[in-house]
Amino acid sequence: MAQYTRVSGSVGLITLQNPPVNALSAAVRLGIGEAVQRALGDQEVQSVVICGQNGLFCGGADIREFGKEMTGPPLVPMIHAIEAATKPVVAAIEGSALGGGLELALGCHYRISHCKARLGLPEVTLGLLPAAGGTQRLPRLIGVPAALNLITTGHHVTAAEALQLGIVDQVTEHNAVDVAVKFALSVTGKPLHDRRVSSLECPAAPDLDSLFEEAMLKVRVACVQAVRAAATLPYARGMEREKALMATLFGSGQARALQYFFFAQRAVGRWSTPGGARWDTSQPRPVRTAAVIGLGTMGRGITVALAQAGLSVVAVETQAKQLTEARKAVAGMLKRAAVRRGTTPEPGSITYSDQLQAAARADLVIEAVFEDMEVKETLFRQLSAVCRPDALLCTNTSSLDVDHLASQTRHPHLVLGMHFFAPAQAMKLLEVVYGARSSPTAVATAMQLGKTMGKVSVAVGNCRGFAGNRMLKRYLEQAFFLLEEGATPEGVDRALEEFGFAMGVFRMSDLSGLDVGWRVRKAEGLAQSGLTGPSARVRQGRRYSPLGDLLCEHQRFGQKSGRGWYQYEPDPWLHRFLEEYRARHGLLPRRIDQQEVLERCLFVLINEGFQILEDRIVAGPEDIDAIYVLGYGWPRHRGGPMFYAHMVGLERVAQRLEHYHQAHPEVPYLQPCGLLRRLVASGSPPIHRWRRAIAGPHSQL
Ligand code: NAI
Repeated sequence: MAQYTRVSGSVGLITLQNPPVNALSAAVRLGIGEAVQRALGDQEVQSVVICGQNGLFCGGADIREFGKEMTGPPLVPMIHAIEAATKPVVAAIEGSALGGGLELALGCHYRISHCKARLGLPEVTLGLLPAAGGTQRLPRLIGVPAALNLITTGHHVTAAEALQLGIVDQVTEHNAVDVAVKFALSVTGKPLHDRRVSSLECPAAPDLDSLFEEAMLKVRVACVQAVRAAATLPYARGMEREKALMATLFGSGQARALQYFFFAQRAVGRWSTPGGARWDTSQPRPVRTAAVIGLGTMGRGITVALAQAGLSVVAVETQAKQLTEARKAVAGMLKRAAVRRGTTPEPGSITYSDQLQAAARADLVIEAVFEDMEVKETLFRQLSAVCRPDALLCTNTSSLDVDHLASQTRHPHLVLGMHFFAPAQAMKLLEVVYGARSSPTAVATAMQLGKTMGKVSVAVGNCRGFAGNRMLKRYLEQAFFLLEEGATPEGVDRALEEFGFAMGVFRMSDLSGLDVGWRVRKAEGLAQSGLTGPSARVRQGRRYSPLGDLLCEHQRFGQKSGRGWYQYEPDPWLHRFLEEYRARHGLLPRRIDQQEVLERCLFVLINEGFQILEDRIVAGPEDIDAIYVLGYGWPRHRGGPMFYAHMVGLERVAQRLEHYHQAHPEVPYLQPCGLLRRLVASGSPPIHRWRRAIAGPHSQL
């Protein structure tokens, strides 16, 4: 809706009203159109101000309407009507003007922005382009290079940057609506022809063609084509081009995946557990002071992330040398982050200690000590004795049993996993692992803290590897099997990188260090040296590949030791090693194509995802997709593994898994899991219906 009032005698004030972000829904568009007509028809009104309620101008189009039949008046003619008005129209931008919101503001004759507002055209991040005149007006207003940059990256700019670029006419520290009303009074009666952005000439820029060529290589082609239309065609024809390009994008799989993922990130915030705890019935407790125990790789990053979120942090490390190094490293990270943001590092929010006692008054503790159950058990017993009885005790373990750690404490309902990803200060993902006894308040508190730290928190049940690493294990395993059968690390990585992963599985393993997994497999009794014959490739009755273990026995730990799956200097060692290994085990190498690499690695991971859903480790497919895109480099434009399965078709995923299982009966995980089979049998419902389909005893399957 949009409310119309008259203020200061002669200013028509139109206020967008559609919480939370005043999105341009059908009702809002209708309301604005009617209010503009009223203002123009009102003899007393000399100028108009458009603003949004609750200190926020407009977050953009209502994405929920995408893909549905259009209802209500379209946005483009409404913006045209505003621009064509014979009375000055001023946009009062507070909070944010994004996407359609900025396009609406660009249709106004003047733009006044509050100093804290942010402006941008983020459509490209949803696989779309700004198609309410954004690609046509912005280049005319601020020139092609700057417009191209904003449109093709989707980056937001601050009010100060917007002023410098020429997007807004004035920035104020005061109430932007009041300032805009005064401004509107001051421009009453002034000519408007050079204030209508669509009638401006696109400012000339040198060497436009090479700019477009370069941008085409780097960025989304459709946005570039649309902006090129602004630079070369009259406005009306540019608008036609924009519309046609948008129509082709709307139907693309990439746009559907990006829009799905946009909502998936929000869906994970509405968490629930099989025990009945829910986001809307559980109250988080305030966390002001947090303690971090163990200042290695992870502890340092977690300390930085907590401090940046405005918490007081007590950082504890028992090794004197590590403590000194950590202190320096944390200060360096905070300084670099501050430089990037153009601020000064906040002093005094971190205190360091070599005594656990220092954590005594913390509201919440996150331990990041060695991945060793005995070390962690002892620590949890100590923490339980030292800390406040109501303190939340969290572990950053990547694989150990959270319930077992909880059982070491006096208050197991206050124990949780907070599984960060390296580098913890930068990665957006946080798995909040609840145990069998974790209280709803504890889960809500950790979920909220993750959000405060700028992370997407996903609630995950306690099982080996939680959700992310449990699926990763199957994916890695298939990659090893493919090498045994004739593939090369380069070939497997190429297939995955062409699919969209930033790094293939072997390059990623080299980067994170092969010894980490080796240590875990040794502790589990899986990695055993000296085995020969058929037993070398079987564990617990299933196919097992010792390739990763053998590499470590050759001191190849990845990038840290200069060599892993790749040599960081030319050396044919690995290929010779694989040939000898295959010969030793009587494995006949065959040619493996990219399709098999993708299907084996990705479908087995997806199959484990369905098993995780069936085991109720997460509440819905969005949780898994958020984890994989934000924590494991799954390409965002493919929506996440579960969305990808939905796009490929569940029947095909199940058929291909079945096919590979028949070829490799000794790999049980290749067999389509029960849930996947039941979903296929029930006609492969679309992804948004899976949650309902899974829901326990009421399952419709
Ligand atoms: P790290 O070896 O770099 O650091 C561990 C630190 O804990 C060392 O500085 C050590 O001196 C200290 N420490 C050990 N016992 C202690 C005690 N009782 N009190 C205080 N400090 C103690 O290990 P990293 O890589 O930081 O891993 C820590 C935890 O985070 C592990 O549980 C690991 O599984 C988990 N994790 C690691 C990830 C990674 O990529 N490195 C990713 C996600 C989780």
